[in-house]
Amino acid sequence: MRVVELVEVTKVYELPRGSVRALDNVSVSIEAGEFISIMGPSGSGKTTLLNIIGCLDTPTSGRVIIGNENINGLRDDQLTKLRRDKIGFVFQQFNLIPTLTALENIEYPMILKGVNGHEERSRQLLKGVGLEEHLGENKPNELSGGEQQRVAIARAMANDPDIILADEPTGNLDSKTSKDIMQLLKATNERGKTIVVVTHDPLVASYTGRTLRLVDGRVER
Ligand SMILES: Nc1ncnc2c1ncn2[C@@H]1O[C@H](COP(=O)(O)OP(=O)(O)OP(=O)(O)O)[C@@H](O)[C@H]1O
Ligand SMILES: [Mg+2]
Repeated sequence: MRVVELVEVTKVYELPRGSVRALDNVSVSIEAGEFISIMGPSGSGKTTLLNIIGCLDTPTSGRVIIGNENINGLRDDQLTKLRRDKIGFVFQQFNLIPTLTALENIEYPMILKGVNGHEERSRQLLKGVGLEEHLGENKPNELSGGEQQRVAIARAMANDPDIILADEPTGNLDSKTSKDIMQLLKATNERGKTIVVVTHDPLVASYTGRTLRLVDGRVER
């Protein structure tokens, strides 16, 4: 079953000094349960591609199908719902809310969705990413980088999404911690999640089943 299908996607950013073709006629399909990496030089369009898959951005032309929905036809509120329910994001800078504890950060997407039992589920998710219970009360700045990224992964899984998208999730971590995070993502993939990870690091890519290479906004064949 296909969970993501991009057909001839082009993204052009208009700037005062001219336009930038960040993606040029990119077609990709991703099967349910895949673990895939996106590599390529800086500026090759990796983040743009991930943001389009995650419905954070829309293409200038081309089709984007997530699950069985063609997102071109969706209204903003429908896109928001799709993102909230089907997609989990993990970022290089972790992007946790600094004023909330680890547990509250994990709970947050569930509260937005109006899920019952979010406190208990938050505790389970914290445990599931290998963090000790007492760390749940810590704020992000009271956690190490690796611990913050574990919290971010738990948060990404809060609403049990089909797809997890990670943009350089180990970019701010040392190599030992990077391996731990990749093991965690691998285990998450083995439990059935489709995972797309953007990386510069061949070691990170080696955890994935397939690598898509971008050069100047195009898929390298
Ligand atoms: N919001 C934007 N407005 C204008 N140009 C943009 C915008 N976002 C990205 N670009 C341009 O699009 C191209 C692709 O950017 P993108 O961020 O996707 O690259 P990347 O492969 O993720 O790079 P990096 O490895 O440095 O993160 C670049 O030339 C970038 O300058
Ligand atoms: Mg990027």
